[in-house]
Amino acid sequence: MIVVTCLAPVNIAVIKYWGKRDEQLILPINDSISATLSTDQMNAKTTVMISPNFEKDLLFFFREESCMSPRVQVCLKEIRKRASENLKGKKNNQGIDLWKAHICSENNFPTAAGLASSSAGYACLVTALAKAYNVEGDCSSIARLGSGSACRSVFGGFVRWHKGNQGDGSDSIATQIVPASHWPSIRILILVVNDARKKVGSTSGMQRSVETSQLLQHRASHVVPQRTEQILKAIKNHDFETFAEITMKDSNQLHSVCLDTYPPAVYMNDVSHTIVEFVHSYNKIKGTTKLAYTFDAGPNACLFLQEEDVAEVVATIKQVFPPTNENNYIRGIKVPEKILDK
Ligand code: PMV
Repeated sequence: MIVVTCLAPVNIAVIKYWGKRDEQLILPINDSISATLSTDQMNAKTTVMISPNFEKDLLFFFREESCMSPRVQVCLKEIRKRASENLKGKKNNQGIDLWKAHICSENNFPTAAGLASSSAGYACLVTALAKAYNVEGDCSSIARLGSGSACRSVFGGFVRWHKGNQGDGSDSIATQIVPASHWPSIRILILVVNDARKKVGSTSGMQRSVETSQLLQHRASHVVPQRTEQILKAIKNHDFETFAEITMKDSNQLHSVCLDTYPPAVYMNDVSHTIVEFVHSYNKIKGTTKLAYTFDAGPNACLFLQEEDVAEVVATIKQVFPPTNENNYIRGIKVPEKILDK
């Protein structure tokens, strides 16, 4: 029996992925860029056991047996295919590509609440499976088959997911732009506005946007390509102001696309909009851009800032948004998250 346990962190996109050109292969209509958090805060943990004695593949989520979704099955199939290619012609070939797998997975943060849980989950699953089945080489394209954004969590630091041009998805992979050590002063705060499951999942939201939003087509062909180049330059030059401005504009455009979708997909709530206002007021008072927000497919905010500003920002947030009731307020401010290399 082979047993492997892996941790994988969440990644937060600053240029958002929204919209697929191929639903099956999960090929996006635009490139996206993200920052991977360190594994010590929000992560997924997966243990994979493979054995010639197991009769079938099994999946346990938070220790409860759950059904293997088609996407988990696709990842498993792809890993086995690569394992069998690797084993061809090798001596001591035990045929491990045929061994069944028992997979145990959990997150230390809310699932499907717009906190990028699937990105950490599938990156972790694929990394653990690859280790167990001894598969080497790029795994981002396999993680992508589980959940698009998961391909970016395979790497630390700042990461780019190239949309690629091939119909088979072979060039739709993630690459590291710079390791976290390149910009060590960057921090991320996660403001949990609501950790309930979102009403419109990102898969159906995206599909609806592709079918109905004209703004999405404009975004993919005329906005994202320039923004990607600008933010890459800002990251390379440690230019926080430009980085922050592009991050906020891109989040705003994602949610504009969601509203341009018919029927609209509404992810941000009143508290989210108050956070947006708060960030702009804070920057105005400071006379410079110290803080940036970004929102995924949910109401929770991710704030980017620099280490030197963390203490003051956290104190101000605690005053402006005192944790009150349990259900739908900013319930807690996660400890400042340092982006680290994995
Ligand atoms: O990977 P998915 O299907 O959960 O889509 C994630 C989409 C966003 O989080 C909204 C944006 C992104 O690039 O992560």
